[in-house]
Amino acid sequence: MSDRFDAEVQAHAEDSIQREVFGTRLGFILAAVGSAVGLGNMWRFSYTASEGGGAAFVFLYIALTLIIGIPIMLAEFAAGRKSRRSPIGALRAAGGPKWIPVAFFYVGAGFLILSYYSVIAGWVVRYAFEALTVGFPADAGAHFEAISTGPQAMSYHLLFMIFTTIIVMGGIEKGIERASSLMMPALFLILIGLAAWAFTLDGAGEGYAAYLQPVWGDLLDRGTFASAAAQAFFSLSLGMGAMLTFASYLSKDENLNREAAVISFADFGVAFIAGLVVFPIVFALGLQGAVSESTVGALFIALPGAFAEMSGGRVIGALFFLALMVGALTSAISLLEVVVASIIDEFDIPRKRAALGAGTLIALFGLLSASSLDTLGLIDAVAGELFLVIGGLGLAILVGYRMEGAREELEKGASPVFRSLIPVVFVFLRYIVPPIVIFVIWDRAMNVWTVIQTTYLGG
Ligand code: PHE
Repeated sequence: MSDRFDAEVQAHAEDSIQREVFGTRLGFILAAVGSAVGLGNMWRFSYTASEGGGAAFVFLYIALTLIIGIPIMLAEFAAGRKSRRSPIGALRAAGGPKWIPVAFFYVGAGFLILSYYSVIAGWVVRYAFEALTVGFPADAGAHFEAISTGPQAMSYHLLFMIFTTIIVMGGIEKGIERASSLMMPALFLILIGLAAWAFTLDGAGEGYAAYLQPVWGDLLDRGTFASAAAQAFFSLSLGMGAMLTFASYLSKDENLNREAAVISFADFGVAFIAGLVVFPIVFALGLQGAVSESTVGALFIALPGAFAEMSGGRVIGALFFLALMVGALTSAISLLEVVVASIIDEFDIPRKRAALGAGTLIALFGLLSASSLDTLGLIDAVAGELFLVIGGLGLAILVGYRMEGAREELEKGASPVFRSLIPVVFVFLRYIVPPIVIFVIWDRAMNVWTVIQTTYLGG
């Protein structure tokens, strides 16, 4: 009995626009990996690891990816591919109209996250451009102060939003799939090359130790656990319908379970390797002091400082920031696509117009984050962490308990090994993901409160 799905499909049967599809399986994987791999991997992962447990954190992160990340990714895939709709239509098909408010959360997360993500990406574009033209500044701290907010930050943010919007206007196959297929292999190559080079540096051993020295006791800390879980959501692009939306453009009966495994592994691999690049560089130049100051600040202060000082630093730095830019761009297009696909599906507005409208609104809203790092931090804590875990909880409950045909959807094209694991996925979605995620929601809500107190109430 899949009447709700039939109704959903029928309601759109006379759509003037035929639903787009990915051209190839690899194209879908690269687009999804492109969404996952971004600023979250290239910096936040290794930074969080070094702050909380080193290798112990890495193990915790892998465990959370398996226990929470992959089941939620599969839930998104099932809901998206079965309904062939973006979040609003997909949740309506899976759970009925009552679930539509949850989907607005998703679209809101896409909107809000992109608004500040693009500001950070704008800094990246600027550093990449400067590396190619004038080199890295001698005083990286002062430089960052000067460019991170205000008109400078705004113009690069707007530039980045223009790139993002143009790609999404191009559509799934000709825009998103093509861009990801060109850019992701380049990112992998650059990153592996950089890691090999970093290995030859003098401070490499010390850098690896600071990154990975295991401190098992740190895992008992509530904050470490919750930040590892929130990091997994952000890094895997879960909890706001990005994976759901991409899966809605899959036409064939592909093995979703295998794709989820490939995507999660690639995402972790890039995050892990990025740490092997960043830490040796920072330690080779004794800049570890700059690392502990702040998450974003360090990426834009410690590393550029190192690039300015080391021989060949300009080339290495240019490659590093180019890779970062590629990662950010393929993530940004998936954030915009969630909003755009919802407008196309719900209001029958053509893609180009929907992308232009949504891109413009997000770009304008992002000016707030481009004028204040406090605002940026607050929106990150609310949308980049809290919204995602709330969205993930909703999806686990919807697909775990309510959606008809979810299991069959995951069984399509599954090999015997994967098929035998599907019941386990449902046990996780029903009984294991919800309690863990509720705990994380509580912790991240407290964190939002702390951020508000410290930045706005002077506490
Ligand atoms: N996963 C991206 C990153 O690591 C960010 C992102 C979050 C993209 C949510 C889409 C949805 O940078």
